[in-house]
Amino acid sequence: MMNTDKIKSASPHLLPALPYADNALDPVISANTIGFHYGKHHKGYVDNLNKLVAGTEFADLSLEKIITATVGKADKTAIFNNAAQTWNHTFYWRSLKPKGGGEPPAGLKQKIEASFGTLDACKKELATAAMAQFGSGWVWLVLNGAKLKVVKTGNADVPMTAGLKPLLAIDVWEHAYYLDYQNRRADYVNAVLDKLINWEFALQNAS
Ligand SMILES: [Fe+2]
Repeated sequence: MMNTDKIKSASPHLLPALPYADNALDPVISANTIGFHYGKHHKGYVDNLNKLVAGTEFADLSLEKIITATVGKADKTAIFNNAAQTWNHTFYWRSLKPKGGGEPPAGLKQKIEASFGTLDACKKELATAAMAQFGSGWVWLVLNGAKLKVVKTGNADVPMTAGLKPLLAIDVWEHAYYLDYQNRRADYVNAVLDKLINWEFALQNAS
């Protein structure tokens, strides 16, 4: 699996610290949302994963290896879901930053323009994919060979198992935005793209 060296993990799996204060993304994402999303949902996935793998063949595997070993296996769905959601959330928090958005660094902007034409077209494709994801899931900017691409995944699914290298993730589960935006997913996604998205993190992941 690609891009596995940047999120370290060992068993028991730990909830990584948020890369900023819980009110640092306010008002786009409130401290109240972070309190539930990070403190309850993300923590819950980590706690469930540790319970599910204890005493099993997965107990000593890294998070990435658990995801690879359980994807698509009907009898391992709970382990996959909790491992993938643990990974996805850690990646999501790092895909955001206070005072994000704006212009990507030159190295990334060049890649975006080569793949989408313009930065606006790239952002529009991310927002459209977010709206097209029916129910819970994720929207990703990924590297597919040399090209950037937007993909969406349902529920806990990750792009890595399809050979795509994730650069950025936006959580479109309702728990990511409901307290701040109620049902207005588009407003949440557009605000994230304009004000929080961490283009530097995408560039790091692309290189
Ligand atoms: Fe989430």
